[in-house]
Amino acid sequence: MPTAEQLQILVSNVIEPITEKPLGELRMVRDTFVNGNDARVRIELPTPAYPDGKKLEDLIRQRIKFAAPELEPRIELHSTVRGKDAGGRIGLNVHNIIAVGSGKGGVGKSTVAAALACGLHSFGCRVGLMDADVYGPSIPHMMNADGRPAATEMADEHGNKFMRMEPIDAAGVKLMSMGFFIEQGQSVVWRGPMLHKALTQFLKDTAWGELDYLIIDLPPGTGDVSLTLAQQVGLAGAVVVCTPQQVALLDAIKAVDMYQKVNVPILGFVENMTGEIFGRGGVQKVSQELKIPFLGEIPLNAAIREYSDRGQVMQMMLDDSPSRDALRKMCQNVAMQVFKEIVKSPTGPVLEIL
Ligand SMILES: Nc1ncnc2c1ncn2[C@@H]1O[C@H](COP(=O)(O)OP(=O)(O)OP(=O)(O)O)[C@@H](O)[C@H]1O
Ligand SMILES: [Mg+2]
Repeated sequence: MPTAEQLQILVSNVIEPITEKPLGELRMVRDTFVNGNDARVRIELPTPAYPDGKKLEDLIRQRIKFAAPELEPRIELHSTVRGKDAGGRIGLNVHNIIAVGSGKGGVGKSTVAAALACGLHSFGCRVGLMDADVYGPSIPHMMNADGRPAATEMADEHGNKFMRMEPIDAAGVKLMSMGFFIEQGQSVVWRGPMLHKALTQFLKDTAWGELDYLIIDLPPGTGDVSLTLAQQVGLAGAVVVCTPQQVALLDAIKAVDMYQKVNVPILGFVENMTGEIFGRGGVQKVSQELKIPFLGEIPLNAAIREYSDRGQVMQMMLDDSPSRDALRKMCQNVAMQVFKEIVKSPTGPVLEIL
């Protein structure tokens, strides 16, 4: 009969199928107990959005049964989201900050960002969603949220005053958007430095609390905002949204280049609006050529537009809606890609804080 330590070693050698690394190296074996024929193994999944816990459980059970057929193992799956905790440098307790960008406007960034936030929340993660599109904020509408965030003046230990803004809760996701501060129909005209300051404030002065994932919906283009953010916090990575047309692809490649220049890991491409009109598979092909992960394809589907126009993105992720499975799969792929990046470089690139 193996001891608990022997069982620990046995389980640590099981290969996790998505990262293709041993569970021990991934620090996923929390503990093991053996008592007579009873054995218990507690596994720490890297995210509640882990795609196939059942398969992993079977692999572990098979390995134990092969080595010690008389054991009756009980396998418990728990999950804790780890991160590079780069937000800590600006006082945030956010494990992973994920930017959603694109090279081109109108390809569905905000839709993907909102679906990602809602999907991860539906798996049981603690999620925030920041709308960094100060010129055309669309997140409040998509999440059916309004109101003005409550602000409290606080003082640090040196007596310096600062503001804390409470994010607006929408179906359990914490939101912050410039849309909460401007009146309907008004537009914002800001020059670079003010834009920069607004984003810094959003990020730093929002009382996000402890979050597993903070999703940032970036404005279109490869411009200032992405760079500002990349310099302020260590992003877990960027999701690049792209439609299957050639022109969109070329712009997406430019966006990838920009992220790489500022050391932001590319989590991967999402092909959005896949279907008869724009085609299919072009993004996946390019991702293979560039050796960039492919995070999934979201069909062009009127239901997606309708849900988001009605402010029901959370509902879309919960209902038996036509594209729910594709969207949920994308969320799981993003969460696992974030984990892969942590395994690759646990501390992340150190970026200067402005
Ligand atoms: N897969 C899809 N199927 C159908 N409609 C979609 C899909 N993805 C997005 N849309 C719709 O396309 C429009 C543009 O999407 P969205 O606002 O998310 O794009 P964006 O990239 O954030 O745009 P912008 O560059 O203006 O910020 C919206 O009306 C949205 O509902
Ligand atoms: Mg948008």
